[in-house]
Amino acid sequence: MATDFTEETAADAVVDSFAPTTSPRLREILTSLVRHLHGFAREVELTIPEWELAIDFLTRTGQKCDDERQEFILLSDVLGMSMLVETISNRKFGVATESTVLGPFHVVESPVRSLGDTIDHVGTGTPCVVTGRVVSVDGTRLPGAKLDVWQANDQGFYDVQQPDTQPRGNGRGLLEADANGEFWFRTIVPSYYPIPTDGPVGELLVATGRHPYRPAHIHFIVTAPGHRALTTHIFVAGSEYIESDAVFAVKKSLVANFEEVTDPAAGEKWNVPVPFRHADFEIVMQPDPPAAP
Ligand code: BEZ
Ligand code: FE
Repeated sequence: MATDFTEETAADAVVDSFAPTTSPRLREILTSLVRHLHGFAREVELTIPEWELAIDFLTRTGQKCDDERQEFILLSDVLGMSMLVETISNRKFGVATESTVLGPFHVVESPVRSLGDTIDHVGTGTPCVVTGRVVSVDGTRLPGAKLDVWQANDQGFYDVQQPDTQPRGNGRGLLEADANGEFWFRTIVPSYYPIPTDGPVGELLVATGRHPYRPAHIHFIVTAPGHRALTTHIFVAGSEYIESDAVFAVKKSLVANFEEVTDPAAGEKWNVPVPFRHADFEIVMQPDPPAAP
């Protein structure tokens, strides 16, 4: 243990204080964290008022958290950290569909829907048909793949944000792909929307001249036997904020065209009024790694 604290030896003193019994991974993480934190404070010559401001910000971030609200994850989101960790953990594997953040609006129990059902029970907004296939990386169809989908409405609100105007489960559904791995459902084109700004994260966005908006998207969690679960979105091509997502979750491969369809026969086929939008895409699942021998 160092007896003479200096700027130069401070990080070593902390790292040397970790007992030899510390688990190797915890030692690796904490050593790097301490060195980066100390390096950061030295680099910007952090003042005591700035350090106090940061402590107050983090304290209020914690105080904003409850069973419904997770302000720390939101902070991680707007700093690009959530997407970085997500992307490190799910490095693109060949042609497999890329992943994105889960977000705070997923609910554990969504309504079970049949293929072709609508997940929209309000009826405002542009009608939309979403179709696709779930396949493995070698192109094999994955019959019975399960899809958990959720989206905001045409005003940019999830059902849980508007309990008085949207029925519970609106914009959500649990679907099962057919024997060919195909799925289809009806909905409305979602709108872009702001992330919650009534907490410290909102203050950070204001202080840094940033907007709080996410481009229009539909969330998916897809599971299939023998494959890694996939958490992703499809983004509406051309949506406002597609180039400046507040949480940095856009990947080019996930941007889909929501084509306008005016053909009345297509409207009859999908049971939607024309004109409507149609998005079609393939979800490519990554097989589980082989079991360790
Ligand atoms: C969402 O897409 O639901 C979301 C993701 C991150 C932060 C806020 C919202
Ligand atoms: Fe969302």
